[in-house]
Amino acid sequence: MTPKCDTKALEDSVRFETLPSFKEIQKQLDFFKSSNITQIPFHFVVDGISTNTCVINGREYINYASYNYLGLSGHPTVEKCAIEAIKKYGTSCSASRIVCGSKPVHIELEKALAELVGVWGSIVFAAGYLTNETMVGNLMTGEDVIFYDELAHRSFLTGSIESGARRVPFPHNNFDALEKLMSRHRGNHVRALVFAEGAYSMDGDIPDLHRLIAIKKKHSAWLMIDEAHSMGVIGETGRGIGEYHHLKNKGDVDIWMGTLSKSFAACGGYIAGSETLITYLRNSSPGYIYSAGLPPPVAAAALAACQVLIQEPERPRCLQARAALFLKLCQEKGLNTGTSHDTPIVPIITGNSSKALQLSQDLLEKGICAMPIMYPAVPEKAARVRFFISSLHTEEQIRYTVDIVEKICGTTLSKENQCQ
Ligand SMILES: Cc1ncc(COP(=O)(O)O)c(C=O)c1O
Repeated sequence: MTPKCDTKALEDSVRFETLPSFKEIQKQLDFFKSSNITQIPFHFVVDGISTNTCVINGREYINYASYNYLGLSGHPTVEKCAIEAIKKYGTSCSASRIVCGSKPVHIELEKALAELVGVWGSIVFAAGYLTNETMVGNLMTGEDVIFYDELAHRSFLTGSIESGARRVPFPHNNFDALEKLMSRHRGNHVRALVFAEGAYSMDGDIPDLHRLIAIKKKHSAWLMIDEAHSMGVIGETGRGIGEYHHLKNKGDVDIWMGTLSKSFAACGGYIAGSETLITYLRNSSPGYIYSAGLPPPVAAAALAACQVLIQEPERPRCLQARAALFLKLCQEKGLNTGTSHDTPIVPIITGNSSKALQLSQDLLEKGICAMPIMYPAVPEKAARVRFFISSLHTEEQIRYTVDIVEKICGTTLSKENQCQ
């Protein structure tokens, strides 16, 4: 809205307090204040390395709030490689790789990631968010259409908006609905992209990859899979959703995306795929051409993490076993874990935001750190506390945690919403 031309309105227009989104934030902060909680559950300062434990204000907690799935942030080899890379290459690329050149460690990392995924090549970007945004924002145009799961990550949505393509969300993991939408809209556009995630970070579920491939082939579309929460995590040796679903030809997925901040103990993102795709991205992606390259120690950490993953397949196996134990115990106790299965992401759905907040506060008091997800991040009825399991969690920590959750749910939360 254009501000009226009186002095007060003009002055107000540059006060951040008048921003509608700031008012929303203020509402949430007020909600925290009125909720009688001891600690606002976001923006913690966390000391030390976030593994299966973390330290906040000098107190140690069992940690379910980090994506250090394989415990590789803090792994001695990963640390050593990052330190050696600093000594060899410094701490920054200082410019885009297209002008100042790549370091050997970038090339090695891209090769290792492509091998892990099982495709021709890969390209790395300085952030996972940037990877999705620049990938989709640049590939798709106003003539095109994008079909995406309604739970798609914000980075993908931002890229989709930037592209100018028609955006068609489909209900979460509902491929009959996707088929119908594609039959209706695909023919009106030049190119089409279908987007799904390898594992969903809100619900901890996994899509049917074979069905997605069949649909994209039938409707002549590209298929892009975001493996932020599946690479290193699912599949017999942790190689993601392709391995989980025993996909023979990895080229059936046109665009494999992943992040380096989670299983790979670093920061950044990658796209893996065919020679044409990677050449195209290296020479056209604004997020690659106009942004400084991944810092060498970060690339070295991610490369070392890839190597540890290959050498120690017991890590993803242990992660999977711990996650299965957590889920089984929750289910035995009648806790509502939604559609979570076969992933280390387990939500406990509380039924409303206040209860999610209260559960996470009570858990903190018992030495357990797990974050609430409240409205508007999810619908009010789907408010939850989310647990991210790591391969480093011990059975004892998991059993203790689920026992405490059950006790809290059985007492503090009212009967009609006992997290069931
Ligand atoms: C599905 C998904 N894609 C992309 C990203 C962005 O990755 P990053 O945090 O590494 O920038 C995230 C972050 O959590 C994510 O969950």
